[in-house]
Amino acid sequence: MDKSDFPIFERYPDLVYLDSAATTLKPKKVIEALSDFYSYHYANVHRGIYRLSEEATEMFEKARESIAHFLGASPEQIIFTKNATESLNMAISFFRGLPITISIYEHNSVFVPAQQYSSRLKIIESLSNIYHKEEVLAITGASNVVGKTFDIKEARDLSHNLIVDGTQYVQHFNPKNIIKYVDFFAFSGHKIYGPTGIGVLYIKDPEEWEPLLYGGGAVDSVSIDMIKYAPSPYKYEPGTPPIAEAWALKTAIELIDYEIIQERERALMKLMEQEKDLLEQYSIYPISETEYPQLSFQFNFLHHHDIAHLFDKKGNIAVRTGFHCTHMFHQHIGARKGTVRASFNPYYNDKNDFSIFIKTFRHIVEEYGHLQ
Ligand SMILES: Cc1ncc(COP(=O)(O)O)c(C=O)c1O
Repeated sequence: MDKSDFPIFERYPDLVYLDSAATTLKPKKVIEALSDFYSYHYANVHRGIYRLSEEATEMFEKARESIAHFLGASPEQIIFTKNATESLNMAISFFRGLPITISIYEHNSVFVPAQQYSSRLKIIESLSNIYHKEEVLAITGASNVVGKTFDIKEARDLSHNLIVDGTQYVQHFNPKNIIKYVDFFAFSGHKIYGPTGIGVLYIKDPEEWEPLLYGGGAVDSVSIDMIKYAPSPYKYEPGTPPIAEAWALKTAIELIDYEIIQERERALMKLMEQEKDLLEQYSIYPISETEYPQLSFQFNFLHHHDIAHLFDKKGNIAVRTGFHCTHMFHQHIGARKGTVRASFNPYYNDKNDFSIFIKTFRHIVEEYGHLQ
């Protein structure tokens, strides 16, 4: 895949989209898969004894098989949700009333459920802060603020139950590398070129847990004082699932090639490294330790909203500003006013986009830096 596969650039050829950590742009094939499903295959699944419903069910379950293959898992371990947030809520809810440990880098989709469900929340900065095996460790595979990963193999050895937030990880690294170490792995479709409205939760032992949500389609039988759940994954999927979205997510993951991603991300990081002297002055994380092409920075002389506006106006550059749903991390590093994040994508950000970003970055420093 490259830039020509993303129709948004037909409308905005000069757009420098550096907000892929928030959501990736959509390839034409994914948009077509969604439209094709709704146009020619659409019916509700698992319910109808008529051909169209049977076909929709078959396609939906094929999508599940494909996502299982993507992770190196089996279909009954793949739960469809509406997004990573729901997946993480579900996994964390299984441990309500227990102590839960998380990292300081966690997105609020881990932090808030852990805060609400745990009996005691422990927050660590590094895995080296763990001295005794944690009962439950919920940790991100890759940060959504800076280019930092956690060693999931090490996290496995340090926890009895390991929940991994793979939402950013899957954009940069092959989840097959780590799935054997985790008990739960969550991500959203929209951050890997798929549609919004669909998330995934991988559960290693899917028969073991009590579902978070209850309702139709998730039970084999029910009476006034009895419930017999359907087998996994259906037990965790009450109500009508994201059917067309699953089909389009299948298309999206089949377009992903981690060898290409790694090669192009290395090239983007080399460019970052070349501009280290400038970037390091404002970056909140060392450029030399950055493991994928994403950086967050602060210009103390301007409000971050003004910075984003300047990037948009001067360079046609889309960056994200604020706390990136990591308030705790921003408090920890003393960035009380928020930061600006540039997340580069291997399929549609190239050398030219990077030059425009650096040129605009330098321009803003030169023009407004005296205000500090
Ligand atoms: C690391 C991480 N975890 C979880 C989420 C939540 O994803 P969603 O909003 O799709 O539920 C995000 C989204 O920004 C994220 O970056």
